[in-house]
Amino acid sequence: MARTADTIDKTETVTLDIRGLRASVEGKEILKGIDLTVRQGEVHALMGPNGSGKSTLAHVLMGRPGYQVTGGEIRFKGQNITALRPDQRAQLGLFLAFQYPTEIPGVSVVNFLRSAYKAVKGDQISALAFRKRLKEKMALLAVEDQMVNRYVNQGFSGGEKKKNEILQLAVLEPDIAVLDETDSGLDIDSLKAVATGVQQLVGPDLGVLLITHYQRILNYITPDRIHVMMDGRIVLSGGPELAPELEQKGYEGLRKELGIEAGEEPVSK
Ligand SMILES: Nc1ncnc2c1ncn2[C@@H]1O[C@H](COP(=O)(O)OP(=O)(O)OP(=O)(O)O)[C@@H](O)[C@H]1O
Ligand SMILES: [Mg+2]
Repeated sequence: MARTADTIDKTETVTLDIRGLRASVEGKEILKGIDLTVRQGEVHALMGPNGSGKSTLAHVLMGRPGYQVTGGEIRFKGQNITALRPDQRAQLGLFLAFQYPTEIPGVSVVNFLRSAYKAVKGDQISALAFRKRLKEKMALLAVEDQMVNRYVNQGFSGGEKKKNEILQLAVLEPDIAVLDETDSGLDIDSLKAVATGVQQLVGPDLGVLLITHYQRILNYITPDRIHVMMDGRIVLSGGPELAPELEQKGYEGLRKELGIEAGEEPVSK
């Protein structure tokens, strides 16, 4: 293969670099200065109590409308992507699994995945070639045939929605993926299936920022780093040994230990 500038770029480690990021929703500041670097090949777990800003960070990273970045920047592959549209970020190789995936009536999973693949990769793949590729990924993740012929998320159980997201991740092959609450609403077997699926995909070409409440998913996916978010800030970072420590102390225990005053709590969730 000719060594064009493009192919040389692909051999470099892709980095998602979040610097001093501040963001507001409806005039209320939620993210109060986030610094976090995720490299291709690394798994970072982001934990923290309800309402601490984890999903807000995921949405801001993907450029979801309604979130105003008021300070700092998001850098990806060496460029400032803070002002890019979600589709542009996806084309660059960033992936976001939403906490509440949407239903798309009338569109089968296989057609949805093929459209997403074409849009993200800018590649005109034939239906046959795509099926072959999809089959490989389905085998890897133990996804049944009947699921991909159903309409996207319609009547899917929580576990099936999550499996579908992981299948999407497998098909799109992003450089960095932000996975929000991949373990929520999953029974023990589904959690294991999803977690081992993610673990199968993690490798030198994929970096993951895994947002989770629970330590249990980390029994299947070993993170390189664990970060704890409270009141819109990362208050603690450490290695995998942090997970059992958090489980034992609880977030309130940690808050006291770090001497953090409880911030303004949400009135209702
Ligand atoms: N669209 C919105 N309008 C108003 N407030 C919002 C909006 N989105 C988020 N917030 C507020 O921002 C704060 C952080 O919410 P976020 O969803 O990021 O928390 P989280 O850490 O993901 O929580 P959870 O663990 O429950 O998923 C909460 O106080 C929430 O009420
Ligand atoms: Mg959330």
